[in-house]
Amino acid sequence: MTDKLQIMVVDDEEIVRESLSDWLQHAGYGACMAPDGATAIEMARSGNWSAMLVDLKMPQVDGLEVLRQVRSLRPEVPIIIITAYATVDTAVQAMKDGAYDYIVKPFDPEEIGMLLSKIAQHQKLLAENVFLKKELSKRYTFHDLIGKSPAMQEVFEFIRTVAPTRSTVLIEGESGTGKEMLARAIHQSSPRNDGPFVAVSCGALTDTLIEAELFGHEKGAFTGAVCARKGKFEEADGGTLFLDEIAEVGLKCQVDLLRVLQEREVQKVGGSGSTKVDVRIIAATNKNLKEEVKSGRFREDLFYRLNVIAITVPPLRNRREDVSLLATHFLHKYNIECGKSVQRISEDTLAALIEHDWPGNVRELENVVERAVVVAKTNLLTPAELPAHFRKSSEGADDARLVSSLRSLRDVEKLHVTRILADNDWNVQQSAKILQIDRVTLYNKIKKYGLSREK
Ligand SMILES: Nc1ncnc2c1ncn2[C@@H]1O[C@H](COP(=O)(O)OP(=O)(O)OP(=O)(O)O)[C@@H](O)[C@H]1O
Ligand SMILES: [Mg+2]
Repeated sequence: MTDKLQIMVVDDEEIVRESLSDWLQHAGYGACMAPDGATAIEMARSGNWSAMLVDLKMPQVDGLEVLRQVRSLRPEVPIIIITAYATVDTAVQAMKDGAYDYIVKPFDPEEIGMLLSKIAQHQKLLAENVFLKKELSKRYTFHDLIGKSPAMQEVFEFIRTVAPTRSTVLIEGESGTGKEMLARAIHQSSPRNDGPFVAVSCGALTDTLIEAELFGHEKGAFTGAVCARKGKFEEADGGTLFLDEIAEVGLKCQVDLLRVLQEREVQKVGGSGSTKVDVRIIAATNKNLKEEVKSGRFREDLFYRLNVIAITVPPLRNRREDVSLLATHFLHKYNIECGKSVQRISEDTLAALIEHDWPGNVRELENVVERAVVVAKTNLLTPAELPAHFRKSSEGADDARLVSSLRSLRDVEKLHVTRILADNDWNVQQSAKILQIDRVTLYNKIKKYGLSREK
């Protein structure tokens, strides 16, 4: 296939059809002709068209019918309606039915040329967008983790190197930075990924219980131990054991852990024999474990056993480049989960998200986006959907100042229409819906105020 735009010209008058096709071919487009509506619909069904130029008034199947049928067959093909001045009202109907635009006879071919190059530009953008999204998702993800900041890229690169080994890993990072996700990603990209990934939250259990949990216990080892049970170490045999919140483990249990790590065998609580285990250990903490060692709360020898490979996940405020990528990712995630179809996050909303300091890191960002998707009433996320502390107090004042500096209603309307269009990425249908006017009215306002995307 060539990369020329393929245009279908639909007109019952041979002279119009042919002169238009000639002009198009001259201007570098591919052109095909259809002498009536039924043929046009058939051709639309089977071919690949960049755009269609359709005469409104044709016997039998008229332009509006072609428009309706092609819109449902091939919604991606833009249709330009050609109309005589006398039928402009029907052209308005055509716009309502989803025509890309209309042109009134007699027309200057240049006018069509301009419309077609606008269509070409738009289609190029769409194609680029799809391509970029694919590229981005390849480059900026590692298993379920997302991050394009140099800091996260470095973390991903490091994991790629260390994951295949059996070495113990210590992950440090503030709450909600993705430590558990990282541990899972390491397991996933290791040769043990067929084996189990077992997570133990050490902070949630008392010292006695944690020992029984980790190493297992014999029947009657303590009150309530009505039968013997395997511990997490044995459960994780052949796979990975994730010791979350490792700093919370008491000193007595630290001694036992150290022994297991050294000898790679576990002894059940209340038992005498020991069992060999083949487990990779990944530990995580939101404390600075070195500091815990200094203050005597964590054994130095255990620290060195765990700290073979150290990874620090940077807090979100130190990698603001990741915010918009993550926010967009969560937008998709919660659209699906909540059955919504919010398309985009407005520029000022993104700016507010990027500026925030994120004490709760990625988890907090995820919660904020989830809430916004749930409360959103349109398909654009605006600062109104963010929790109150995200909205800057000066925002309203700036707006008021700008509006009061404008004199006429016309200026205020022009500013408002421009803003809504910009916020909606120049999607006319969506903007018209928000402005509560129909597309044609909005279209007329765009023409009246001479608005264009660049301004
Ligand atoms: N890089 C990332 N890409 C995508 N989602 C992420 C990323 N980091 C974190 N998340 C999201 O944030 C949530 C919290 O991540 P996770 O539980 O791994 O953090 P954590 O560091 O273990 O937190 P805590 O210290 O509170 O246990 C996850 O459920 C995940 O949805
Ligand atoms: Mg965690």
